[in-house]
Amino acid sequence: MRGAGAGKVRVKSAKGRTAQSTRWLERQLNDPYVRRAKAEGWRSRAAFKLIELDEKFHFVKGSRAVVDLGVAPGGWAQVVRKLSPKAKVVGIDLLPTDPIHGVTLFQMDFMDDKAPALLTETLGDAPDLVISDMAANTVGHAQTDHLRTMGLVEAAAWFAVENLRKGGTFVAKVFAGGTDADLLAILKKHFTTIKHAKPPASRKGSVEWYVVAQGFKGRPEEQG
Ligand SMILES: C[S@@+](CC[C@H](N)C(=O)[O-])C[C@H]1O[C@@H](n2cnc3c(N)ncnc32)[C@H](O)[C@@H]1O
Repeated sequence: MRGAGAGKVRVKSAKGRTAQSTRWLERQLNDPYVRRAKAEGWRSRAAFKLIELDEKFHFVKGSRAVVDLGVAPGGWAQVVRKLSPKAKVVGIDLLPTDPIHGVTLFQMDFMDDKAPALLTETLGDAPDLVISDMAANTVGHAQTDHLRTMGLVEAAAWFAVENLRKGGTFVAKVFAGGTDADLLAILKKHFTTIKHAKPPASRKGSVEWYVVAQGFKGRPEEQG
């Protein structure tokens, strides 16, 4: 590895390293968000996506009970605890997550039938915020990847609709083309405002977007 030009780090290809991983490493080393995350103690550059979404839509501060779907390595959960230090937070991920003060963590598949009840019972209160940064592992076939991730997003949306407190917010990563028709219909029925955003920290070349659904109208028993 050596410095190049205006502070840009170049990574020499190395034995055993594929061209793809060399490019990944080079991008990481030159990414200002990666550097900032390291300097500021965030576990992921993704933390900035939530910070930027919150600057625009104001849903984290003041939240009291939060469910974080796809929590690992924990950047979003850190942001929630920083902006809302008293919030109870429950997170779930297929991968292990190092402990975070004030956050209960489960290493488990959110699609497991037992996961939703485990999350809500652990939280104790109805969540006022459900955030999902889950994405399916890509297989390289665009349509398959899109469908698998949309399946996760839809499950997250149903979880939000069945559990949120009235007035609550649901935020989820979606993919290019935004939210598909089925999901949009669910959200429109249950939330007063639905916005799509691509925060500056989301890489320009990536197909990810976020949907922010606010003003949950309430579970059927709360309406009327
Ligand atoms: C982009 S990362 C989340 C980053 C996190 N928001 C942060 O700030 O650190 C997406 C996560 O979703 C998780 N994930 C994907 N499918 C999942 C599933 N079915 N159940 C639980 N977690 C899942 C992945 O393991 C991965 O850690």
